[in-house]
Amino acid sequence: MELEELPNIGATTAEKLRDGGFNSIESIAVANPAEIKEIGGIGEAVAAKIINAARDSMEMRFMTGTEVLEKRKTMKKIPTSSSALDELLGGGIESQAITEFFGEFGSGKTQIGHQLAVNIQIPDEETGIGKSVIYLDTENTFRPERIIQIAEGAGMDPESVLENTIVARAYNSDHQMVIIDRVESVIKEKNVGLIVVDSLTSHFRADYTGRGMLADRQQKLNRHMHDLQKLSDMHNLAVVVTNQVMARPDFFFGDPTTSIGGHIVGHSSTFRLYLRKSKGGKRVARLIDSPSLPDGEAIFSVVKEGIRD
Ligand code: GTP
Ligand code: MG
Repeated sequence: MELEELPNIGATTAEKLRDGGFNSIESIAVANPAEIKEIGGIGEAVAAKIINAARDSMEMRFMTGTEVLEKRKTMKKIPTSSSALDELLGGGIESQAITEFFGEFGSGKTQIGHQLAVNIQIPDEETGIGKSVIYLDTENTFRPERIIQIAEGAGMDPESVLENTIVARAYNSDHQMVIIDRVESVIKEKNVGLIVVDSLTSHFRADYTGRGMLADRQQKLNRHMHDLQKLSDMHNLAVVVTNQVMARPDFFFGDPTTSIGGHIVGHSSTFRLYLRKSKGGKRVARLIDSPSLPDGEAIFSVVKEGIRD
């Protein structure tokens, strides 16, 4: 359903709303009247009507517990190539969920993204998955050469792995959101089982600087996460996002996630892993606030072949 189909929205208002990041009926339904008023350039009463109409038009999906269980049975787990990390995650990175890797620079977030881009493609007979990957690269750190190395390390054909790695470069936060908004056809066409967003937050930080813009930024990030969550749910795919945060050793046993963007992201990710550098080039992943798994830590390393114990 298009925005224009809602009452009180003409072509001009629809365009303004889209420019402001309201791309879908759902995004309107969860908005508040003040933002719709401001972005759409309309009166508050009209804004409220539009939001109500958006809510009314949304299909309400109720499921029985049995149906939820059936759906969870179709859930896949992508192995990470580190048995310690797999164990921490209860088997691997889950589909129908968002997993966030956050940590300081060089903590291994991008390397894990590359490893998972390869591992989602491990043939179906071994993992029950064997799908392709969309790699949303915001920092220009995607390296096909590294994919080749990791694929070789996994005993896979590097050429075919690269062929099934679909890369999108996002140049700013709006671009990033539009890519996710338009990605559905690619998901179906290429049988995508994993979306990597590396980094989730860097453009949002750059594009919304200053105090006054904090609320806008969080709202946009929230919507972006919501779009990703919906894709993971509808297509039984895994979403993996990265988020750079400053190392704060002094603060470590408090909340290491108080950084910019951390709060909103924290509430919509299903699994959150905090990565930190450790002695001898080792990396430590700590699982935080998982709804279904015990908190704990895993040690892994980044080697030529990719991620290993
Ligand atoms: P930011 O994006 O800067 O926040 O960092 P990140 O968390 O994405 O770090 P990244 O995954 O890029 O990890 C960098 C670390 O992985 C480096 O310090 C290296 O130790 C290791 N690494 C990266 N590339 C290679 C490689 O090709 N071979 C090997 N053996 N190690 C690598
Ligand atoms: Mg990185």
